[in-house]
Amino acid sequence: MDIISSPIEMQNLCRGIIMQGRSLGLVPTMGALHKGHLSLMQKARQQNDVLTVSIFVNPVQFGPHEDLEQYPRDMAGDIEKIEAVPVDILFNPGVKDIYPEGYSTYVEVERMSNALCGMYRPGHFKGVTTVVTKLFNIIRPTRAYFGQKDYQQSAIIRKLVKDLNMDIDLVVCPTIREPDGLAMSSRNSYLSPKQRDAAAVIYATLTLGKNLITEGHRDAKAVQEAMLENLKKEPLIEDIDYVAIVDTETLSPIEHISEQVLLAIAIRIGKTRLIDNIIV
Ligand code: PAJ
Repeated sequence: MDIISSPIEMQNLCRGIIMQGRSLGLVPTMGALHKGHLSLMQKARQQNDVLTVSIFVNPVQFGPHEDLEQYPRDMAGDIEKIEAVPVDILFNPGVKDIYPEGYSTYVEVERMSNALCGMYRPGHFKGVTTVVTKLFNIIRPTRAYFGQKDYQQSAIIRKLVKDLNMDIDLVVCPTIREPDGLAMSSRNSYLSPKQRDAAAVIYATLTLGKNLITEGHRDAKAVQEAMLENLKKEPLIEDIDYVAIVDTETLSPIEHISEQVLLAIAIRIGKTRLIDNIIV
């Protein structure tokens, strides 16, 4: 596996691959890899001649009081996991490689970036769309892979690709879960054993909402209330950022459920913010 940190070197290598007529898959990550990340890589491995993974903890997508410093980092473990996939190229730039002195250009998808998580993490999605645009420009992948776990992120990137005429196919892969339903996340490592058990209420609540809708409930507010009540039963949940029922494309709130909707939850257990969603 090639391990590259220089954007210019990466750009030249990827350009050569595309010139040879080979397809190039990209899985962007922030490392601390788990089975969710690996499922994206396996999918990309099947669909492309060459597979590249990026590991970059992007400071620009973290707010001033968020967990940038504590974010789990395990480069040796990550390399072992991705070599087993196998991955052909690891792009692992430093902060100065991506944001050199005097850096001043940002990419923002308006409106959608202020909904849901955007309300609680101002500037977060602007940081995501900026770094993803840079990764796309450096690598120019044929296909790029994202997880449904971060549904809003994948919807915003889909809009970015469409609005800026980027010639890249996006593939959104299903959420990989622990046996009790908790979505795998690098941030789960922050949880104490008790908090970890309590976190199962998130998926249980999404399932409750799904069941209500499949039983025929159509009033989004009533379903949302039932979900909120269920979350409130778990004493270790300190804050409920949102329980939302929204349009799967625009992410705007729905009142009457008549077609596919996204059920999405963001909560805090201790200092740890956890998100999850399902489509019904
Ligand atoms: P990160 O949180 O490392 O996630 C990288 C990719 O893995 C994302 O597309 C995410 O949705 C996916 N993923 C995470 N947990 C998953 C799970 N349990 N099942 C399936 N997929 C899962 O998301 C980011 O990094 C960053 O914002 C990034 C896109 C790399 C830009 O910095």
